[in-house]
Amino acid sequence: MKKSLLLTSVVALGLSATAVKAEPQAEVLHWWTSGGEAAAVKVLMEEFGANGGTWTDMPVAGGGGDAAMTALRARVLAGNAPTAVQLKGPSIQEWYEEGALGNINDVATAEGWDELLPSAITYHLKCDGEYCAAPVNIHRIDWIWGNSKVLSDAGIEPPTNWDEFNAAADKLKEMGITPLAHGGQAWQDATVFEAVVTGLGGPEFYRKALVELDMETLKSDKMKEVFDQMRRIRGYVDDNFSGRDWNLATAMVINGEAAFQIMGDWAKGEFIAAGKVPGKDFTCTSPSGGAYLYNVDSFAFFNVEGDDKQAGQKLLAKLTMGQNFQKVFNLNKGSIPARLDVSMDEFEFCGRQSNADLNTAIDQGFLLPSYAHGMALRGAQAGAITDVVTAHFNSDMSSEEAVEALARAVANSL
Ligand code: GAL
Repeated sequence: MKKSLLLTSVVALGLSATAVKAEPQAEVLHWWTSGGEAAAVKVLMEEFGANGGTWTDMPVAGGGGDAAMTALRARVLAGNAPTAVQLKGPSIQEWYEEGALGNINDVATAEGWDELLPSAITYHLKCDGEYCAAPVNIHRIDWIWGNSKVLSDAGIEPPTNWDEFNAAADKLKEMGITPLAHGGQAWQDATVFEAVVTGLGGPEFYRKALVELDMETLKSDKMKEVFDQMRRIRGYVDDNFSGRDWNLATAMVINGEAAFQIMGDWAKGEFIAAGKVPGKDFTCTSPSGGAYLYNVDSFAFFNVEGDDKQAGQKLLAKLTMGQNFQKVFNLNKGSIPARLDVSMDEFEFCGRQSNADLNTAIDQGFLLPSYAHGMALRGAQAGAITDVVTAHFNSDMSSEEAVEALARAVANSL
């Protein structure tokens, strides 16, 4: 009896010794492939390696992540989910409901995440009240980036609302300069659209239209004005915009081939990777009158077998929320830290602006989840809206027809 007890504990000890020794492994699916993005994710790869982990990179190119999400579905269907996946907003809940997500609540509790993160953000990272994802950043969507030299040569101040933007763009067009660098991909059209909805309609209009999907708001005269503005913006882009990647559009502004780009602040990562100085070589203004469209990238952790992979998930979760990582990653990525206690002192002009605007927006209740980047709506509803936005942008559909189509598409998606 005593012997067998001894044997059991020896076996148990042996097992736990193996478990402790498991070397952390992580296969990480993400879509960070542009210059600024790759520099940012490299920070995490290096930290993971320095802490004894082995990182298997699974980048799937394609801005906005549509291609990455298709790859993810194929992997999960094949019963071979990656250990960690760049995922956001309601799609985290969708995967949780499918039974596909693991839980990293023990790391989150040990590290005190509830105290370190803004409550508006923790909400996106929890599944049934427990953490199932770790945030890396806060991106702002509603920015207008401008080439400082092109603007000053043309005698133009960086625009802070859509009237100013239109006046500037008309002037540039007359001077033979392409006003707007845009990539004609559906998600990029959606990115511009939600900035127009916010700036023209204000935060309550945005919330009713693109968070609550209120039919009256979707069909309103204000929404017609939004489509009028989209039509006007269509007139400011060059002939070759169709299918262009977002970072190539950013390069046009960097090189002075175009004056502006309307894009989330991953575009700033490209300016910085090209050695440009924020606030000096390029301008960053928002047309949103105090509102702030946010987008939080995070890693969600899928159910995986094996001590090494599970150890990898825990290590990745811990490092992702580490103070150093949140600073260095975001200096490269163009976003700001999700953690509240990271000093903004080392951030540049536009990063500090983003942080200040975020705090004001939180105080005023003007913090808005981005629909175009998967923070506000489930996939079916967001997709229905984007289909109409992009169909309108790429045709001569009238604003009246667009609002009708919008309301119909949303109703059918519910
Ligand atoms: C966003 C994502 C950013 C950036 C961008 C361009 O949806 O949140 O991190 O990668 O797409 O691909």
